[in-house]
Amino acid sequence: MIRNVLVPGGAGYVGAVLVPKLLENGYNVKVVDLYIYGDVLNPHPNLVEIKGDVRDIALLEREIPGADAVIHLACISNDPSYELNPELSKSINYDAFIPFVEIAKKNEVKRFIFASSASVYGIKKEEEVTEDLSLEPLTDYSRYKAKCEEILMKEADDNFIVTIVRPATVCGYSPRLRLDLTVNILTNQAINKGEITVFGGEQMRPNIHIQDMTDLYLYLLKLPNKKINKKIYNAGWENYKVKEIAKIVQSMISNVSIKTVPSDDNRSYRVSSRKITDELGFTPKYGIKDAIFDLKNAFEGGKIPDSDDIKYYNIKTMQAINLK
Ligand SMILES: NC(=O)c1ccc[n+]([C@@H]2O[C@H](COP(=O)([O-])OP(=O)(O)OC[C@H]3O[C@@H](n4cnc5c(N)ncnc54)[C@H](O)[C@@H]3O)[C@@H](O)[C@H]2O)c1
Repeated sequence: MIRNVLVPGGAGYVGAVLVPKLLENGYNVKVVDLYIYGDVLNPHPNLVEIKGDVRDIALLEREIPGADAVIHLACISNDPSYELNPELSKSINYDAFIPFVEIAKKNEVKRFIFASSASVYGIKKEEEVTEDLSLEPLTDYSRYKAKCEEILMKEADDNFIVTIVRPATVCGYSPRLRLDLTVNILTNQAINKGEITVFGGEQMRPNIHIQDMTDLYLYLLKLPNKKINKKIYNAGWENYKVKEIAKIVQSMISNVSIKTVPSDDNRSYRVSSRKITDELGFTPKYGIKDAIFDLKNAFEGGKIPDSDDIKYYNIKTMQAINLK
């Protein structure tokens, strides 16, 4: 029975929606996070917040024991912020992951869910990018996600249940908002500038709504061990070209123009998430349009007073704080 859930990186964009949901569902939650982008988590009797670094082994030895499950989200979590300081990023995204998994297993954590990324596939010619295709990551961010998957899979056994999720680009409103993710970027531009700038536009992006992303983590906690052990699942729907997403945004926000400029960013991803639906019965309830709608409401409701604030952009915050 899972009661105590440890969420490293739980103060981030996904964590800020996931943690309240875990609490609502009766779990005791512990967040370990550097709070790089601030702390939006509300106090709760069943929530423990630890400000700390996943690279701190003593902290891991202290805080992991007692957890029944880990949902691992802590990360320098996109290509540009990874590239800002590759050595630092590797130390967080990969080096620290090895002892984390070891300590978790040693302390009888029963279930370990890892947020990998759909970008581990690289660019595929196949229309259906399924979990059995080879991984050809194009960037170090994606390369080390793939390496973490390997480490975790090696440790999986009947007492250490491992599930890897490869999420598409997440979209929608979170109290710890990111405005550096495709749908969110385009919606912000539409609302605050009246003009969407599309770089290239032919690149494909699969998407997952933040409510589906967080529902999925919760869903995985509730499934029986044998259904999810040593399993890898894509989680992304609505594979669209960036220029198509721009059109959807334009159709939902009045008086918006689209400007297209050339780009040498050829990262183009699509995924098939048929496996998670067929095997686990998980289907998304939301989509891009809901994300745009929610973001529009959040802007109009004054929840995002200054969309230029660096806290909404991982790379700008990382540049400003000079993390060592
Ligand atoms: N958001 C997406 O579109 C997306 C897509 C695919 C995969 N993912 C993965 O999902 C996870 C969550 O993504 P997110 O969008 O919430 O990212 P985020 O950047 O908003 O959150 C990451 C959190 O990790 C924390 N963190 C970073 N380094 C740390 C360290 N050394 N010690 C402790 N905490 C640290 C940060 O403070 C932040 O709160 C990440 O692993 C990311 O790679 C996200």
